[in-house]
Amino acid sequence: MLEMITEQDLKVLIKEDELQNSIKQLGEKLNDFYKNEELYVISVLKGSVMFTVDLVKHLKMPLNMNFIRLSSYGSGFTSSGKVNAVDISLPDLNGKNVLIVEDIIDTGLTAKFLIDFMHLNFKTKSLKFCSLLDKRETRKVDIEPDYYCFRIGNQFVVGYGLDYDGFYRNLPYIGYLET
Ligand code: IMP
Ligand code: MG
Repeated sequence: MLEMITEQDLKVLIKEDELQNSIKQLGEKLNDFYKNEELYVISVLKGSVMFTVDLVKHLKMPLNMNFIRLSSYGSGFTSSGKVNAVDISLPDLNGKNVLIVEDIIDTGLTAKFLIDFMHLNFKTKSLKFCSLLDKRETRKVDIEPDYYCFRIGNQFVVGYGLDYDGFYRNLPYIGYLET
């Protein structure tokens, strides 16, 4: 049985306006990079839903939004180390510019799984990976995002899409547990 975290136990790590400013800047970088070329965004549910909807509002190129669902986390604080493809149905991405949007890179196993999956199934025009958060100390595979908004330490965070046992995704900020 998981302990419920109350909002009083949460400390703010990244405030709402800091998130929004950084996402806007990332949007501008992506607009510069892709110019007016068509872009296929692949958002990894459920964690990256908030980040994706806020990011794409800044993007100006013709944009095709897609959602896939993976799971690697069990129901606690540590990754199961095994990535499950829950729903990975995608359009034909051959010859397309593809941008994968993730909430956080932790062990890197999910990112590696996705990048390998894309290379195996499609010959894309370009493939980039962006993550809201980059938890670098906990990496198990050698992988770096092409773009990220914030680097964080080895702490379990919730909010703005990120969950603990399915809860806290609705918070407009990133919080962490005081331990
Ligand atoms: P990976 O270990 O890099 O494969 O991370 C996979 C997934 O674990 C992420 O996409 C998140 O959904 C989840 N995750 C990793 N760290 C955290 C965290 O601190 N809080 C909530 N979810 C996390
Ligand atoms: Mg995720």
